[in-house]
Amino acid sequence: MALLPILIYPDARLHKKAAPVDCVDGAIRQLAADMAETMYDAPGVGLAATQVDVHRQVIVIDVSEDKSKLQVFINPEILARDGECEGEEGCLSVPGIYDYVTRSATVRVRALGLDGQPFEIDAEGMLAVCIQHEMDHLQGKVFVEYLSRLKQTRIKSKFIKHHARVTA
Ligand code: NI
Repeated sequence: MALLPILIYPDARLHKKAAPVDCVDGAIRQLAADMAETMYDAPGVGLAATQVDVHRQVIVIDVSEDKSKLQVFINPEILARDGECEGEEGCLSVPGIYDYVTRSATVRVRALGLDGQPFEIDAEGMLAVCIQHEMDHLQGKVFVEYLSRLKQTRIKSKFIKHHARVTA
């Protein structure tokens, strides 16, 4: 297992679209294991492959209190969604920034598991929000893109300044 470097907004690679996984093989299982280790280490509740600069449709999530319920979704699709909820979100690619985003309250998701077999789940609450947040990453979308232009500009300049400082 290995910790993977996480891309930080506004990195253009966060806007790449992830390709579907054709075959859930050892390399994909290794990627998922490394992503899980990276997520727990950060610590965060979800991570998309896009955030570690691998542009394949793989996400890992663990919203349990004791970090005992890792869920891996490969090629996830939302089959149905219902209701609306607004919650505060953050992102490992935008450290220190939290803001409110409106999402579907419940989602039915189909994906492949680590065994390559399809499964479907109904998600609500934090899990539903997290799945939608991570699936956005696979489409090249970061949660700050739901915020006002003004907020996005402020966040971008904050991160560009920070980057300039640490690389100078
Ligand atoms: Ni994120």
